[in-house]
Amino acid sequence: MEPIGFVRTGKRVKFHALHQPEETRSEENILELIPNRRLEAGLRDLAGFSRIWLLWWFHRNTTWRPSVLPPRGPAKRRGVFATRSPHRPNPLGLTPVQLTAIRGRCLHLGPCDLVDGTPVFDIKPYIPAYDSFPDASAGWLDEVETGLRQPPAFAVHFAPLASTQVAWLRRTWSIDFTERLTELLSRDPSPHRSRRIRKRVTGVLEIGCGAWRATFEVLAGIVTVQTIEPAYPRRFLVDPARAGIADCDAQLAFLEQWPESAGP
Ligand SMILES: C[S@@+](CC[C@H](N)C(=O)[O-])C[C@H]1O[C@@H](n2cnc3c(N)ncnc32)[C@H](O)[C@@H]1O
Repeated sequence: MEPIGFVRTGKRVKFHALHQPEETRSEENILELIPNRRLEAGLRDLAGFSRIWLLWWFHRNTTWRPSVLPPRGPAKRRGVFATRSPHRPNPLGLTPVQLTAIRGRCLHLGPCDLVDGTPVFDIKPYIPAYDSFPDASAGWLDEVETGLRQPPAFAVHFAPLASTQVAWLRRTWSIDFTERLTELLSRDPSPHRSRRIRKRVTGVLEIGCGAWRATFEVLAGIVTVQTIEPAYPRRFLVDPARAGIADCDAQLAFLEQWPESAGP
């Protein structure tokens, strides 16, 4: 199999891609088909479908595991085939996305959970009469969803330094991961590999947020985010052999502003 195209989603790190598309968001993504392969002709008659399936490659993954730790719900391993985990023996992704327009060989899409540059193998129309079974049961996920409908278990606050840092990132670099950070920490701030939460040897808790990290403490149901840090050391950021690190310039500027935030 060969890709028929690649998506442009602006989500350069996996942290920015949601676990499934968030339908309430207004997002525009593009699937650009490979030119000169007569693929555009295959798009004829697709315009009337408001939704399509994308079959795609988790190309950023190289390993798989028979049991995985899903990011949602309690820290419990599940068989990979009972999850939508990217770590699969054949790393194929499946996403139903809104199709908003077709222009030449570009398909304009609504919210999706693919990172920028993901190769797509196939497109199929989403057909509600065949593809939708609202009464189907969803096993362990039904229990997790019930738990998630409860109010968040933790309040999340930002200490003054972290507030200054997130405001600087937003203002100077248009980088903002606080919504997702708050969502994750408000549900469960305990160490968890898929949620990238770990305890450092110093006892400080940290969470990975794509190209960034946040340190935090938990006390009496309140999570306080203490600091933001670049996820990469300076020597990696200036190394030409490692070109392409997400938010590289922003991380270097951040280290100028807060040199002590170089991480452990
Ligand atoms: C939980 S998977 C679900 C994907 C798809 N909806 C499915 O059910 O097969 C979505 C996650 O895959 C990750 N992801 C997106 N594009 C990827 C890629 N090209 N390679 C590896 N991981 C990717 C992102 O972290 C995203 O949150």
